[in-house]
Amino acid sequence: MIICVNRCFKYRMSDEKRIILTGFMGVGKSTVAKHLSHLLECERLDLDAKIIESEHRTIAEIIEQEGIDKFRQIETAQLGRILESNAKIIALGGGAWTIEENRRLIKDHHFTTVWLESSFEHCWLNISASKRVRPLARNKSDALKLFEERQRVYCLADWHFIIKPELNSYEVAKRIAEEIFFYEFN
Ligand code: S3P
Repeated sequence: MIICVNRCFKYRMSDEKRIILTGFMGVGKSTVAKHLSHLLECERLDLDAKIIESEHRTIAEIIEQEGIDKFRQIETAQLGRILESNAKIIALGGGAWTIEENRRLIKDHHFTTVWLESSFEHCWLNISASKRVRPLARNKSDALKLFEERQRVYCLADWHFIIKPELNSYEVAKRIAEEIFFYEFN
């Protein structure tokens, strides 16, 4: 009997391919990015986490203390920095891709963008189950309004990856690895 202990990859990740994960709050960008970086054995960064690290306060505190416009400025500056890093996978916060300057920066750095697309109910379930304070999604109707407004901008991403409710984050990451990076898992 032959037991395959390690995953066997038919193709190695192309050195040039770098991806950005975008999508609405609660869709699972950070968790998918984490699984994907393990599967592809490459470096990943999380935009919100880098902002928290450099500002020494939470995203909610920044927005509440300084307002959303200042938060967006901090976000764009931090995005510019992490795009210059060696990370091959970057998870954005849900609003970053909606800013034109950010989309231009991402394009200029030749990232492939992946929209994790799912139903509002799926996102809302995760938002309401999470302990994290999300100032832009404090109640369901505000969150739904934002969700609907943003669909046309998320649509501008290179790839639209539909999150089916039966797939967990690891399975989503595996599908992305297979479909976008042509990985074959034995
Ligand atoms: C935001 C999403 C949040 C965070 C901030 C603003 C947005 O990130 O960046 O609260 O505008 O959608 P998540 O998508 O990780 O919740």
